[in-house]
Amino acid sequence: MTRKTYDQLRSARWFAPDDLRSFGHRSRALQIGYDHADWQGKPVIAILNTWSDISTCHSHFKQRVEEVKRGVLQAGGFPIELPAISLSESFVKPTTMLYRNLLAIEAEELLRSHPMDGAVLMGGCDKTTPGLLMGALSMGIPCIYLPAGPMLRGNWKGNVLGSGSDSWKYWDERRAGKITETQWMEIEGSIARSAGTCMTMGTAATMMGITEALGLTLPGASSIPAVDANHQRMATQCGRRIVEMVWDDLTPSRVLTRRNFENAITVAMAEGCSTNAIIHLVAMSRRAGGDCAVSLDDFDAFSRKVPVIANIRPSGDTYLMEDFYYAGGMRGLMKTLADGGLLHLDTMTVSGQTLGQTLEGAEVYNADVIRPLSNPIYQEGALAVLRGNLAPDGCVIKPSAVAPHLLQHSGPALVFDDYPALKAAIDDPDLDVTPDHVLILRNAGPQGGPGMPEWGMVPIPTKLVKQGVRDMLRISDARMSGTSYGACVLHVSPESYVGGPLALVRTGDIVTVDVPARTIHMDVSDAELARRKAAWTPPPRRFERGYGYMFSQHILQAHEGCDFDYLETGFGPAIGEPAI
Ligand code: FES
Ligand code: MG
Repeated sequence: MTRKTYDQLRSARWFAPDDLRSFGHRSRALQIGYDHADWQGKPVIAILNTWSDISTCHSHFKQRVEEVKRGVLQAGGFPIELPAISLSESFVKPTTMLYRNLLAIEAEELLRSHPMDGAVLMGGCDKTTPGLLMGALSMGIPCIYLPAGPMLRGNWKGNVLGSGSDSWKYWDERRAGKITETQWMEIEGSIARSAGTCMTMGTAATMMGITEALGLTLPGASSIPAVDANHQRMATQCGRRIVEMVWDDLTPSRVLTRRNFENAITVAMAEGCSTNAIIHLVAMSRRAGGDCAVSLDDFDAFSRKVPVIANIRPSGDTYLMEDFYYAGGMRGLMKTLADGGLLHLDTMTVSGQTLGQTLEGAEVYNADVIRPLSNPIYQEGALAVLRGNLAPDGCVIKPSAVAPHLLQHSGPALVFDDYPALKAAIDDPDLDVTPDHVLILRNAGPQGGPGMPEWGMVPIPTKLVKQGVRDMLRISDARMSGTSYGACVLHVSPESYVGGPLALVRTGDIVTVDVPARTIHMDVSDAELARRKAAWTPPPRRFERGYGYMFSQHILQAHEGCDFDYLETGFGPAIGEPAI
């Protein structure tokens, strides 16, 4: 591998020339207290930090960024921290998904417009991983991903609590009158008790694991708990490694091939991944360009051959990410898959080694947490893609989180036109609903939500909860949290807001979902659907100005990854380097 020389670095164009422009750059760097020795002959490393006072999962990033800087300095680089939008999953409304692409734009343009030679990307909370990576892949300079890592297990009076999953569970208990207000408040103070991301296999853990499988983190990085001292050391290692990557010119396009994305899908399945992983990975693969792009059909094909072996909630019933780390973590999981011939081992990673090399010596220390392929927690993969007259472009379900009797189910539709209508009706003791009904929520997709909120785990009507019903078939064009569970058909595409068939289903229509056959069908004739379509009028526009207006003009449908059309690779010629 040929090493770059200083003159070949991007940053040298800002700092090195003997001209007026560079005088400006140097004099202003001196203004902040840097000296020539800080940059001369050195790669400049951007550290994109998604810390903020309200980014609950990234509260350790204020310290971690110093540890990254230490590594950069040790390796002879010049670290520059650049704050990026934090997308705090818990607080940002209506949904962080509305802003994932905004972070992607920000990441790409921060790197492009500044004198950066390489980047450490600090993220972890749900949308921050795809947002940072989509931008960095489009920009194309060497980058390494620093995953925030999961928080510690929740603990309430000796009961282990899992992010999300146990909130839903105990909320149902409270609605059923089985939990007191005092107990509920105790749970509130026990479920999230350290820095780090949700510690169930939600979107955050799923996406951090996928990023390791893509080869974009250091080996083993994605499963280290946020507050473990190993996490601090990993941060410093990221700082050291990115400097070497710059000299080696190890750009994303030299790391990523279609085979890396196939590994990512394989790992997603074995993790029992969040359904959100599909949308993000589709979008990321389309940014990576070349032949990297993956589709819903790839997910379905891999799901049929890769079993769920990570026994982590919500697919598993006991363990959390902290247990996963102690059991061998992502390296243990990937070693299990590799030994079964399920991974491409010749793919490159940011470590400079192939995936196969990074897995040497990896072990599983607890075969109940990371199961052998011969004893999976779910034989078929985590996700199934369904198609039919209700979802011509596809929709997804997570069979491993579904009550088995609902995997093949027919029942009358009970339709809610939007989320407020659902909320208004769901607690009504007189709601005309049985456990056999199929609950349908529409106008919750990319355009309709807007931003495709996580409303897809439609609550079971309170009336039925009190009767002991804990799962029902539910269909929407929304997403659902990766920590959710239940018979929820999601991401129906095209969405109802743009006139997809979900807009045409009526209360009382018989709807059938057959997961083994991968079908979803409403028992309404084509002629009747055509009549309903002719009578359909689009809902009012969601946005008249601002970011939302731009979003609504350019957002792609769920099966295409919900990127903005103009951000995708192939939309136009690559943007050039800025004039200096
Ligand atoms: Fe940040 Fe779940 S809220 S990962
Ligand atoms: Mg989430």
